[in-house]
This record gives sequence, structure tokens and C-alpha cells, in this order.
Amino acid sequence: MKPTVKPKNPNFSSGPCSKHPGYSLDELRDAPLGRSHRSVGGKAKLAEAIDKTKQLLGLPPDYRVGIVPASDTGAFEMAMWSLLGPRGVDVFVWESFSKGWSVDITQQLKLDNVQVHTAEYGKLPDLGQANFDNDVVFVWNGTTSGVKVPNGDWIPDDRAGLTLCDATSAIFAMDVPYHKLDVITYSWQKVLGGEAAHGVLILSPRAVERLLSYDPPWPLPKVFRMKKGADLNEGIFKGSTINTPSMLANEDYLAALNWVESVGGLSGMIGRSDASLKVWEDFVATHPWIDFLAEEKENRSSTSVCLKVDLPGDKIKQMVKLLADEGVAYDCNSYRDAPPGLRFWCGGTVDTSDLEIATQWLEWAYNQVK
Ligand SMILES: Cc1ncc(COP(=O)(O)O)c(C=O)c1O
Repeated sequence: MKPTVKPKNPNFSSGPCSKHPGYSLDELRDAPLGRSHRSVGGKAKLAEAIDKTKQLLGLPPDYRVGIVPASDTGAFEMAMWSLLGPRGVDVFVWESFSKGWSVDITQQLKLDNVQVHTAEYGKLPDLGQANFDNDVVFVWNGTTSGVKVPNGDWIPDDRAGLTLCDATSAIFAMDVPYHKLDVITYSWQKVLGGEAAHGVLILSPRAVERLLSYDPPWPLPKVFRMKKGADLNEGIFKGSTINTPSMLANEDYLAALNWVESVGGLSGMIGRSDASLKVWEDFVATHPWIDFLAEEKENRSSTSVCLKVDLPGDKIKQMVKLLADEGVAYDCNSYRDAPPGLRFWCGGTVDTSDLEIATQWLEWAYNQVK
């Protein structure tokens, strides 16, 4: 039977992710447009974004937060280019984005003494293989396979190397133990449903120590440089961005943070995401034709939920098209490099009730094309 009720919001893309419920451009009316980002008001807005980020995430007070160019990619590249080199590197690869970081490390930075720990889509490499005398590079949540690290227990507190974590599809959705991480990055367009363009770079005191004690042998573009001479450019972590940011995107980020506050802050966001994952767990448990791509329950992502369907790839594409044509689910195809399947974003900006309705349409679409 064709369902009659449609989701209020059919946006299930894994990036840019859905705007928060009730979003309106009116929320951006206070943006200081046409003013310098270095004016008193402009800087105050950027500093507000940094302060609110620290407060809502509950970051350790000695961690620094900066707004940087080029989204999560910019933030993570900036960290790798600035920090890697003095120690060996262990990099964990289990889907497309983590693979991208390993390619940077081996083919662009061309570092020696690199251990690449790889697993196929759906699995996690053996985290126990990490050598913490080296720097360890990984994503918290593999957005394109729906496999996350289960926790930070595998990371020792007394590590010698740094941990660099691309947490873009985990932060504001999963419990991330900050003290286990020396670099944390994410983009506004992901869990918060903000605008693209800017990334957030979070540094532990140990990461700052590395920055101060080490100058990489390769040239660093201006947008990657976090030092002024021998000193840290502290301005970056107070709202004096390296180059011109979008004040409109910043206002949009502030609107997202205000909304996060209204749903109970970080724990509210984690709860929303977990409730949405539960919808899929129930659906998968009662429908034999669909399953999680993630093989282990404890590694299952609560944001980028990736699903296998017992149909050939072209039939799955037909399902995705049907759902979009009906206006009930957009962008729920699997990532282009991932195995054929479905991917539904379940971060906090998506209403669980919309996912419940989407599953009814999914069942209908499956029966149409099978
Ligand atoms: C794990 C991961 N890293 C990096 C990126 C790239 O993010 P951005 O386009 O915000 O730079 C994404 C985007 O989906 C991602 O999921």
C-alpha cells in the first residue's frame, strides 16, 4: 500500500545535511553583512561562535577552537600539513574519507614510516594495532560506510604521539572523549546543518606544543599557517580568522548552535541521533531484505546510516529515484565510492518522526521495483 503521509522534511543528505527543524532565513537577520570581519562587531560574532562551540561541546578549558577556511577538509589538511612529520604515522582507513587522508600522508606529504591499517566497507580495522609512539590519524565516523569507532578506550592517556581525528560526522552526535584527541575537526555543513565554507579546528595543548616545537620541511600555504614567526597565532582562536570568512555562514552557524541549545545541548543532540538509529534498527530487524552495512552493532553509526538492500545496484537506484520523485526522501543513495545501497542521514537536525515515515515509503519503493 502506498503510504499517504509524507515526511515534513524529506532532506536526508549526508552533507550538506538538513537544516534544523523550524529553520528560517529570518534567523540570520543579525548578520553583520557588508561590514569588515575585523570590525568590533564582526570579531565579536566570530568569537561568539568559538565560545558557544566550547561551551556546548563541553571542551576542556585548555583546548583551542579556531574557525578556518575550506570546511572540514581545510581544517584537517591544515592540521596534517602543520603537525605531521617528526614521528611516524599510523593511519586508519575504512572508507572514502579516511582513504583520502592516507593518500595525503603517503602520496602528497610522502612521509616515511607510515603504517596504513585498512578494512573494507562495513568493517573497522584492528584499532589495537595503533602504535601511539607515532601520530595516529583517523575519522571518528566513516561517513561513507556508516562505521564508527566504538569509543576512545583504545587510545592511551599517556600517548607519546598525537591523535588527529576527523570528527565531522560525529561531533554534536556522538560521545567523543576529547582528552583522547589532540586534533579534532568538523564542518558546519554536517551535523549542525550549517552552511559549507568553514571548518572548525580544535587543538589540545599537546598539539599546540607540537606546533611550537616543529616547523615542517615543506612550504605551507598561507591558509594553513597557524604561527606568526615562532609563536602561535592566537588570534585564529579568538576570531581573527586567517582570511575573510562568510559572516552569513557564521550567523547561520550561530543559529544552529542556538537551536542545539533549545533541544538540550550536546546530550539532546546525541539522544535525537540515537533515537533515529533505533528506527533503523527496528526496521532492519523486521525486514529481511535490508541490513546495515556496518557488521558490528557497536561500530554502527548513528548519523550516516548505511544500508544494504538485496537488490542489484540499478534497482536500488530506481528506489532512490522513486523516493525523490514522490518528494519523500532526497539524497538517500550510498556514496559514489561505497557499495551500492542506501544512506540516510540521522544527525540531530533530522526529526526521528520523519525517518519513521520515510521507512514506510522505503518499503513501498522496494515492493515497486523488486
Ligand atoms: C569523514 C569526512 N571527512 C571529510 C569530509 C569532507 O568535508 P567537507 O566537505 O566539509 O570538507 C566529509 C564529508 O562528508 C566526511 O564525511
